[in-house]
Amino acid sequence: MKLAIFGVGGFIGSNLVEHLIEQGEHEVVGMDVTKDKLAGIEGPNFRFVDGNVGEDVATAKELTAWADAVVDLIAYANPSIYVQSPLDVVQLNFFENMKILEYCLEAGTRLIQYSTSEVYGKRTRDEEYHDDHSDLVMGPVQKQRWIYASSKQLLERIIYAHGIRGDLEYSIIRPFNFVGPRFDYLVPAGSRGGPRVFSHFVSALLSGGPIHLVDGGGQHRCFTHIKDASEAFSAIVENPGGRNEIFNVGNPNTNITMRGLAELMTNIYEELTGKKPDNEIIEISGEDFYGKGYEDMDRVPPNVDKLRALGWEPTRDLDTIFREAIEYYLAPERHAAIL
Ligand code: NAD
Ligand code: UGA
Repeated sequence: MKLAIFGVGGFIGSNLVEHLIEQGEHEVVGMDVTKDKLAGIEGPNFRFVDGNVGEDVATAKELTAWADAVVDLIAYANPSIYVQSPLDVVQLNFFENMKILEYCLEAGTRLIQYSTSEVYGKRTRDEEYHDDHSDLVMGPVQKQRWIYASSKQLLERIIYAHGIRGDLEYSIIRPFNFVGPRFDYLVPAGSRGGPRVFSHFVSALLSGGPIHLVDGGGQHRCFTHIKDASEAFSAIVENPGGRNEIFNVGNPNTNITMRGLAELMTNIYEELTGKKPDNEIIEISGEDFYGKGYEDMDRVPPNVDKLRALGWEPTRDLDTIFREAIEYYLAPERHAAIL
């Protein structure tokens, strides 16, 4: 299969390319405005194109027409941006993504759209989120964190409507907290906002700065190893049952609170380095940490029966997920800048 990946230079894209090179079954061309995370990732079936999907229209359309499937990964994906720059989030996560959808419609190319677990919004029932049956419930307009989920949700609904009309073949992937090498970026001691939780905690462990527990740290997340996530991609894209369907990609067996995660990462860090961390734990409100308009999910439990029916099963546990991700940032050249 010929795959064109837009947003290939990010966390999910760089790991997906590594997986596809290892697999060696598909011809892959990836486009992005940055390629730092692709350093050292090379293979005979992968080519990188430097470009902006919305501005370098001729190239993006050419790649779309060449491909059997387009993989759309472009988005802002950190909650701090949703409250600090909501209009930028809508511009990229909805309008620029709509351009990719339009390229696919014009060329008749299948679209693999990365959405988010956040489309489910706030949990109102004590049950797992089901790809096709759960309600999608968000907070009020003033809680502008939900602008990310709203952008992704409208995009999903438009893609779905095209599928019903019969002019688009698609698959929608809803990631549940993927973690692994190259995840986000490190931050200096004491930083607020910025990247996602793993990056904050590993930065604190490396720099000796405080670990912030937002709103008490009782919130739960289910983390997914990026390799399980890449294997899920293959199961969806290569299986006829993956067409015109929506899939949760998550690991129901890795549920943990953020307080528990801080402890787990501290223990792994000590085992890996032989140094006993003594980071101060600071409890902080969501609005103080991220800004006005922040709201949180208490739990984000995926139901993955639909994906299991395609033969996929997540196999990496919490310890493996965080050990490998921490190990990546232990290389001095990767963390020297924050010390
Ligand atoms: P990322 O920020 O690491 O990667 C996004 C990439 O898109 C970046 O490399 C960026 O340079 C590129 N990009 C942005 N605008 C572009 C443009 N106009 N033209 C070309 N490239 C452009 O994010 P990620 O964590 O890899 O996430 C990828 C997708 O998955 C996003 O849609 C995100 O919302 C979704 N998602 C990710 C997670 C997760 O666990 N990482 C969870 C939920 C949803
Ligand atoms: C994020 C993004 O919105 C989406 O990209 C995506 O849908 C989702 O991750 C995902 O990866 O599936 P969220 O789960 O809130 O949403 O991700 P984090 O920013 O990593 O936050 C997780 C939890 O940790 C939140 O409760 C947050 O308040 C808390 N947190 C974060 C801390 O306690 N301390 C920190 O230093 C940072």
